[in-house]
Amino acid sequence: MPRVFSIAIDGPSGAGKSTVAKAVSERLNATYLDTGAMYRAVGLFMLRNGVPLADRDAIAENCARAEVDVRYGRDGRQRVYLGGEDVSDAIRTAEASLAASAVSTVPEVRRRMVQLQREIARGRAVVMDGRDIGTDVLPNATLKVFLTASMEVRARRRHQELLEKGMDEPYEKVLEELRRRDETDTKRAASPLRRAEDAVELDCSEMTLREVADRIVRLAETAIGEGA
Ligand code: DC
Repeated sequence: MPRVFSIAIDGPSGAGKSTVAKAVSERLNATYLDTGAMYRAVGLFMLRNGVPLADRDAIAENCARAEVDVRYGRDGRQRVYLGGEDVSDAIRTAEASLAASAVSTVPEVRRRMVQLQREIARGRAVVMDGRDIGTDVLPNATLKVFLTASMEVRARRRHQELLEKGMDEPYEKVLEELRRRDETDTKRAASPLRRAEDAVELDCSEMTLREVADRIVRLAETAIGEGA
């Protein structure tokens, strides 16, 4: 019998969630779902269709037209599609990040994304990362982790990541964008970013992402064993 379990990894932008969640999913032989990519695809849809990001009613009205789909390539990597087009790279720009943050405050968008995420998780072993996985999407997750790191560590990591991709953004700009995103993610009315009461909090400012992944795998093996 294949094992069915769910691991929720939430936390602020740049804490290393996706790197860690990907590594954990590989080691536990589970499907990885990057839920942020789905909000990014909706954000990109609004940008491409000229829907003003400040107009929440227009976003709510138009979000049903954004056909977001998640598929897995032969290499097991997640690809995100918008109306059948693979937008996995297009959603990674700074513009798409801010658009994602804006659309993710709209309840209608969240309702749709959460429904899709639950469908993907059903009957599978999954590791999901996001902001509301432990609090809203998978309240009965086998293990919930809340991953944090100081603002400076997160900005430095993000800055480095961009440099590696050939994007030479000034550090101060990266820090400022992170601050803005934290602000919207934690202050929004609909499912704001917060730690679930039963989540394990890991501050990874002083840990390598490899160490964080090791720690989560151990916690997960224990939790899965207890649930079996
Ligand atoms: O993790 P990320 O940076 O790719 O997420 C993009 C935006 O989507 C971010 O501003 C927060 C939002 N988001 C969310 O509200 N809920 C999730 N489960 C995942 C992301």
